[in-house]
Amino acid sequence: MREVTPRKIREMKGKERITMVTAYDYPSALLADKAGIDIVFVGDSMAMVVYGGENTLNLSIDTVAIHTKAVARAVRRALVLADMPFASYEISVEDGVRNAVKLIQAGADAVKIEGGADHERLVKKLVRMGIPVMGHTGLTPQRYLRLGGYRLVGETEEEIEEILRDAKALERAGAFAVVLEFVLADVAKLVTEEVSIPTIGIGAGPYVDGQVLVWHDLLGIYERSPPFAKRYVDLRGMILLALENYRDEVKSGAFPSGEHYWEFLDKDDFRKKA
Ligand code: KIV
Ligand code: NA
Repeated sequence: MREVTPRKIREMKGKERITMVTAYDYPSALLADKAGIDIVFVGDSMAMVVYGGENTLNLSIDTVAIHTKAVARAVRRALVLADMPFASYEISVEDGVRNAVKLIQAGADAVKIEGGADHERLVKKLVRMGIPVMGHTGLTPQRYLRLGGYRLVGETEEEIEEILRDAKALERAGAFAVVLEFVLADVAKLVTEEVSIPTIGIGAGPYVDGQVLVWHDLLGIYERSPPFAKRYVDLRGMILLALENYRDEVKSGAFPSGEHYWEFLDKDDFRKKA
């Protein structure tokens, strides 16, 4: 059992801000855990940032499970959360349960689904069988086609009501937290005040219980980062510089140099042997 549990996350509301970051492989997860991040999240955003997709619609449960396995091997302290990809839980409750089990058996401590009110039965069922669930409302990227692209939501009364309804349904069904994505800060504040479970924002302003960012956005290794993501370092530039350096040194013969290879000290002796 890892140190950060869904119960601990719940208890952090109003006391300590929750930190969450995505990670999709072993070395990244190792660093996220070492940095003391509370939740290491195998997000379906991997469909875009790892696999180069235009959206998150083309990702299977088995692919998420493979990445979850790698992340789970690395993390000791943080909560390992895995994302249920598009169409892995919407078809039926039975299907959703079967797919959530795959992620738990891959090493996740909890699963995340998009939506709330539409999935109350599924969340209840998962929680009853012992699988902790995080919800996700506001901008729900798996509705990309219907939304007509990614945009701020919660500007109309209808949308605000839907967000509130989702958050309350998740709370009622026993979810331990909810992600609020790309909603007006005032709407996120309202939801945070209205529900007893923690809200974790992304592009949702400061009046929430925690923040989440995508690994590649945070580190500056994705060209299409959303405007709300803060880039803490330009890793893209650093990686490019290193690769160009490597290329130049091979071309010029500067690499490998003495400390990176081994040879017989007595070259005549080597020739005799050869
Ligand atoms: O998949 C993902 O990275 C997410 C976060 C943006 C919350 O769902
Ligand atoms: Na996601």
